[in-house]
Amino acid sequence: MSAVESVRWSADGGAVDIIDQRLLPGALVRRELRTVDDVCDAILTLAVRGAPAIGVAGAMGLVVALAPHAHDDRERLLARATALGERIARVRPTAVNLSWAIDRLLRIARGIGGDAPAVLHALRREATAILDEDREMCRRIGEHGLALLGDGARVLTHCNAGALATGGIGTALAPVYLAVERGRRVAVFADETRPLLQGSRLTAWELSQAGIDVTVLADNMAASLMREGRVDLVIVGADRIAANGDVANKIGTYPLALAARHHGVPFYVAAPWSTFDLATASGHQIEIEHRGPDELGRGFEVPVQPRDVAVYNPAFDVTPAELVTAFITDRGVMRPPFRFDGARHARPSAV
Ligand code: MRU
Repeated sequence: MSAVESVRWSADGGAVDIIDQRLLPGALVRRELRTVDDVCDAILTLAVRGAPAIGVAGAMGLVVALAPHAHDDRERLLARATALGERIARVRPTAVNLSWAIDRLLRIARGIGGDAPAVLHALRREATAILDEDREMCRRIGEHGLALLGDGARVLTHCNAGALATGGIGTALAPVYLAVERGRRVAVFADETRPLLQGSRLTAWELSQAGIDVTVLADNMAASLMREGRVDLVIVGADRIAANGDVANKIGTYPLALAARHHGVPFYVAAPWSTFDLATASGHQIEIEHRGPDELGRGFEVPVQPRDVAVYNPAFDVTPAELVTAFITDRGVMRPPFRFDGARHARPSAV
């Protein structure tokens, strides 16, 4: 079982302690985020990344950023919380978990009575609950997904939807961790995931750390692997799932789903309810983050494209619901026709 803890409180409770994912697999370095600038920079630069992990880190980051303001009067603290929360939520627009977690904290802040220290205390408790719940949801996703992984299963995944991307054992990788824990043999193929290589840098790292059989391939090799009959199922994570089941996930997920459909390989999306966004009707309404040109052109020792050439660099794509075999969620495996009514996990814990 992976012991990776991607996000946690620092020992003194005054910072968000993250694994700096930019440095993997070369070095395992933890970093403490103590200000709102630290938090926003870490999320923007993908030091902390993955939809559930940025939700957790964003919520804890808001608590840390507000902590020095215990002497504010209540109204001033609430105004500050709103401004800082909105700033953090805007850093990465596609993963709904970030705005979901911030909204959850702001609802608590507004709903609880008392002075600034009482509000800060409630916010810390809520952020801790978000972390704990995420860990639980990952495990339940793993348990529900277990039935899909027989002994000897060969799983293809994209990007990193493992422990590094969550507060627990991951979403797409959770069934893999639990299957291996129960003695089943599982082989994972990890798409390298251009342009930022979350598959080869992160998925391959965390699976190999856990002693799980993992093979890296370039994204454009996945269809050939399926054609050779070497993939039993695909499992990916998600950054936002619209009410009709369309899935925004790391760029390259959609072509993987198309290839899987063509080759008759089941295509599963694993996600907690915090990733379901019933307020968004379909994938057409999901805002897709576009990132800077250097991610394509400067990732190697020498530039690999002419300077000043235009770059198309969406960080996510949308896979239509019709290509999804089933969703593996913390509430069970959902097969078509997809109905998510009342499903979104928006309920704040009691304060
Ligand atoms: O840009 P990233 O690395 O944050 O993108 C992450 C992904 O697309 C993951 O697959 C997704 O967040 C699911 S994480 C459990």
